[in-house]
Amino acid sequence: MNTPNRRTLLACAAACAFALPGLVHAQAPIIIKFSHVVAPDTPKGKGAQRFKELAEERTKGRVKVEVYPNSQLYKDKEEMEALQLGSVQMLAPSLAKFGPLGVKEFEVFDLPYIFKDDAAFHAVTDGPVGAEMFKKLEAKGIKGLGYWDNGFHIMSANKPLHNVADFKGLKMRIQSSKVLDAQMRALGAIPQVMAFSELYQGLQSGVVDGTEGVPSNFYTQKIYEVQKHITLSNHGHLAYAVIVNKKFWEGLPADIRATLEGAMKDATTYANAIASTDNAAALDKIKASGKSTVYTPTAAESNEWKKALMPVHKEMESRVGKATIEMVYKAAGFVAPK
Ligand code: LMR
Repeated sequence: MNTPNRRTLLACAAACAFALPGLVHAQAPIIIKFSHVVAPDTPKGKGAQRFKELAEERTKGRVKVEVYPNSQLYKDKEEMEALQLGSVQMLAPSLAKFGPLGVKEFEVFDLPYIFKDDAAFHAVTDGPVGAEMFKKLEAKGIKGLGYWDNGFHIMSANKPLHNVADFKGLKMRIQSSKVLDAQMRALGAIPQVMAFSELYQGLQSGVVDGTEGVPSNFYTQKIYEVQKHITLSNHGHLAYAVIVNKKFWEGLPADIRATLEGAMKDATTYANAIASTDNAAALDKIKASGKSTVYTPTAAESNEWKKALMPVHKEMESRVGKATIEMVYKAAGFVAPK
């Protein structure tokens, strides 16, 4: 074998110098910043973490997912803007937060009592209706990847909330949805939109008197420490859409995108599987704390709430669209409560 002469070595060094930047570039991981507003120890927080683990493992490190929980990077409204600008690549906002984006149809999910149980919600989101709703996001530069369930809303204040009359004049924090605004007004309360990150302080300082929410958020944000009374009203439903910046997603190498779609599918199955047990466990911990009384309404009280809230469906037809409401009714097997 010939020993390489000086000229061959020099040629080789030059070729390597050209090849190396490309090599380094090819190996730099693709970064996905996944921003959300809740605690890591919630169904959404755990779902995001599971996606990170699956995505990094299955792409063998070609993708790195950075999860930013607890509004660390952006609050409710800002995170939508950041996604569109490409400052973050992935979010999982609640379906009640798409109105300001100009996609009002998502507020159909906030109609009181529209889902009788989690299965009714999944019958909508896991079928053609869910896919059609996602298509509406594309014009906004956003792609929907999955729906994550987080169960039913409870209601709280520093006074017992048993009858509709108990809400009169109470300032109730809501997410940005106009349906939730109409819902609180139907109860006689004064709705106030407030970012999730400001909720604890808003309640503590008395800027708002009460709120609706789910036990996993009540527990992890310590809402139960600043609200003496909780009613298990189950009047509304909370769920999320995991969304990505469309341009970013479509610009990914096809093999990577396919792997990430698989990781998201599995993270979605996981997040949906833990939602109900996590919320039940959170409610148990709230009860055990003794800081807040947890009240289950009587059948008569529930009926009174339903009577007050059901007209919101008709009232919101002009906002979310009659066709959208009917499409969801049909897929959910909705029967108006008597
Ligand atoms: C809220 O703002 O109350 C919720 O949407 C927070 C969340 O993401 O669960």
